[in-house]
Amino acid sequence: MATGVPKTKWGGNNNNPTQPDSQPDQSLDVSLSYEGKRTNAEILATAPAAIKILRQSDEAENRLYYGDNLPILASFLYDDSIRGKVRLIYIDPPFATKSVFQSRSQSDAYLDLLVGAHYIEFIRQRLIILRELLAPDGSIYVHLDENMAFHIKIIMDEVFGAGNFRNWITRKKCNPKNYTRKTYGNVADYILFYTKSDTYVWNRSYEEWTQARADKEYEYIEEETGRRYKKVPIHAPGVRNGETGKPWRGMNPPPGKHWQYPPKTLDEMDARGEIYWSPNGNPRRKVYLDESSGVPVQDIWLEFRDAHNQNIKITGYPTEKNPDLLARIIEASSNPGDLVLDCFAGSGTTLDVAARLGRRWIGIDNSPEAIKTTLRRFATGLERMGDFVAQRPSNPVQPMLPNLDLSASTAFNDFSLFTTLPYNGELNEALKQRFSSSAL
Ligand SMILES: C[S@@+](CC[C@H](N)C(=O)[O-])C[C@H]1O[C@@H](n2cnc3c(N)ncnc32)[C@H](O)[C@@H]1O
Repeated sequence: MATGVPKTKWGGNNNNPTQPDSQPDQSLDVSLSYEGKRTNAEILATAPAAIKILRQSDEAENRLYYGDNLPILASFLYDDSIRGKVRLIYIDPPFATKSVFQSRSQSDAYLDLLVGAHYIEFIRQRLIILRELLAPDGSIYVHLDENMAFHIKIIMDEVFGAGNFRNWITRKKCNPKNYTRKTYGNVADYILFYTKSDTYVWNRSYEEWTQARADKEYEYIEEETGRRYKKVPIHAPGVRNGETGKPWRGMNPPPGKHWQYPPKTLDEMDARGEIYWSPNGNPRRKVYLDESSGVPVQDIWLEFRDAHNQNIKITGYPTEKNPDLLARIIEASSNPGDLVLDCFAGSGTTLDVAARLGRRWIGIDNSPEAIKTTLRRFATGLERMGDFVAQRPSNPVQPMLPNLDLSASTAFNDFSLFTTLPYNGELNEALKQRFSSSAL
């Protein structure tokens, strides 16, 4: 397999007219142009929301907001405890599907009707403020599907810098579908991972070895110890003049290569039995299975399908994401105690998982159903998917209100609740019932 090598390894003959010798001109960066694109300065000057506290938790640093996320995010620009302090942002915004979404209990949840430039600008305005809120070593993950992922990738490059793009993650979202349409089944969605800079929190994720995979990859067993191992070269590309370019045991590194270790270290490894010598005298390094942390996670994630059978537990909110997917992201890109933000919080998946993993969190959503679902989730947890089917409405006017007992000592009492929207209607009643009247 031919692979590219770093540009510095190029021998110098610039005989390819499509590859200029000089650095590319930064002004040639790609950007999206459309009507209604506001300047960054205009967006950062968005009037902050007037925010009303519905419930103040004494020690809580965790915050749940009901309202449009743009003015709420703008208000964080003036909060020193948030601006530049958010270690991880995950957002799962509407996908421009031209759909309305209802929960499993058939309550209206949210509208996804913005399309084209309106959609792009809606997301872009939030991204520009989110970048300001991110810590210098912070990361952002934006979950999208094939409708707008390509457009938003260009916007992310504009806002965060193309050099801060880390991964385009493909997630398998559901089981294969039996399409009647003349297309391939659509089982993937996408997560764009960017960081604010080159220095960012990164806890590499590993998958456990399966027996079959380990047996295939580590195919040898050391006679003396019974340890499983694989053989890898002890040289690497590139000529070096130092110790690693010198002969070892009378052998030079192969042409164009250097030893991975200085000869003295290779001697020590050999003495420990960590070098395998082929019958014709070629040395290879032994890499042992029991020293492997697992298989480093790649950018195709197959194991985090959303609700897919009757036995798993969910809130019943439409498009709610698999908590294990959020756990992978939160563990990889934040540490305990860090601040995690999701401003399209829906059923509160990110917030719930962040709390369980010892992170602080901020969640925002402008759907009363989302806020109610999150409160219910915090109070009573998830329900088996089958129960939603069984329960489906014998009494359709019965609202699925959170049965909150905020005096109970659960981990999820530890949050404050805020609103920016006119404070009336069903949510108001729900909150009045559930929170002490003094807090309202
Ligand atoms: C795809 S859902 C998020 C689902 C969530 N990840 C979960 O696991 O439940 C998108 C959410 O964004 C919310 N939303 C859309 N526009 C918003 C806005 N301008 N401000 C705040 N929330 C918004 C919707 O109400 C909806 O709950």
